[in-house]
Amino acid sequence: MRGRKGSLWGKKKKKQASGKAGRVPGGSPPRAAARGAAKALDAIDYSQFYDKVNSRGSVDDLVLLENVSNEGIVEVLRTRCEKGDMYTSIGPVLIAVNPYKQLSMGGKGIYTSGVRDYYHRKGGGDFMAPHIYRVAAEAYKSLQADSRDQCVIVTGESGAGKTEAAKQLMHFVTTVGTSSETQKATMEGVQRHLLESNPILEAFGNAQTIRNDNSSRFGKYMELQFTFKGMLRGGKVTNYLLEKSRVTGQAPGERCFHVMHYLLEGTSARERSDYRLLPAK
Ligand SMILES: Nc1ncnc2c1ncn2[C@@H]1O[C@H](COP(=O)(O)OP(=O)(O)OP(=O)(O)O)[C@@H](O)[C@H]1O
Ligand SMILES: [Mg+2]
Repeated sequence: MRGRKGSLWGKKKKKQASGKAGRVPGGSPPRAAARGAAKALDAIDYSQFYDKVNSRGSVDDLVLLENVSNEGIVEVLRTRCEKGDMYTSIGPVLIAVNPYKQLSMGGKGIYTSGVRDYYHRKGGGDFMAPHIYRVAAEAYKSLQADSRDQCVIVTGESGAGKTEAAKQLMHFVTTVGTSSETQKATMEGVQRHLLESNPILEAFGNAQTIRNDNSSRFGKYMELQFTFKGMLRGGKVTNYLLEKSRVTGQAPGERCFHVMHYLLEGTSARERSDYRLLPAK
């Protein structure tokens, strides 16, 4: 992520229910009820789920472990996972255990805009529960405070959740940091371009393998650029190491790049016969 020093960040506009308010005798009008519901949604106390002091009774930073051993570490990760905590810290490094299901806290998903806003407002830090948004919030904060490029490295074996983690990181930094409606509109345009480029890149670079139905078969370096006020300005993706051999041959139980399957799905029987293609499996 690139950026220049800015004077403000984290100035968030409080969400307002749209429409004019007015007193109606004899009960709440539907619009007022909707406003009440929106308020209740905003009033979620995220601190009880995402502040470290409330980290649900388990060690959430492995540097605090008294006996450091492989078994001890695996036990902590396993216990936390069973309680629905996929994230654990080890100092500044975040460990994520793929839960293979959508997790929630207090009945709400862990990747909602409310959770993003909460981490953004607080700016990450040791006092917050480990989360991919904490990494994102710290990088975003340092980007502006230190006026230096920030880099987040995501690594792990196939199926560990790197692509999903990278998507959440991108979602965070592309959606926080707007203060006016005009800025929001500009940023949403850039954000849409960046987020919507993902399915296209995945179509040409991802394939089903025996370990992951959506395995990335290419390396990707993504650079995001921000204005000095922390507003997303643009970005670019550099691809490298595409597994080209997959086009002509795949291991048993694996498939070619998704785009080949999209192509076969979209062709008629006649076209398939003309081009000597078999139907998609
Ligand atoms: N945070 C998460 N919450 C729920 N499910 C997840 C999460 N992260 C990953 N998954 C599930 O695991 C699958 C594999 O994750 P992902 O594609 O991100 O792995 P990867 O590390 O990028 O693997 P590869 O190296 O093969 O590309 C996803 O399609 C999704 O179903
Ligand atoms: Mg991947």
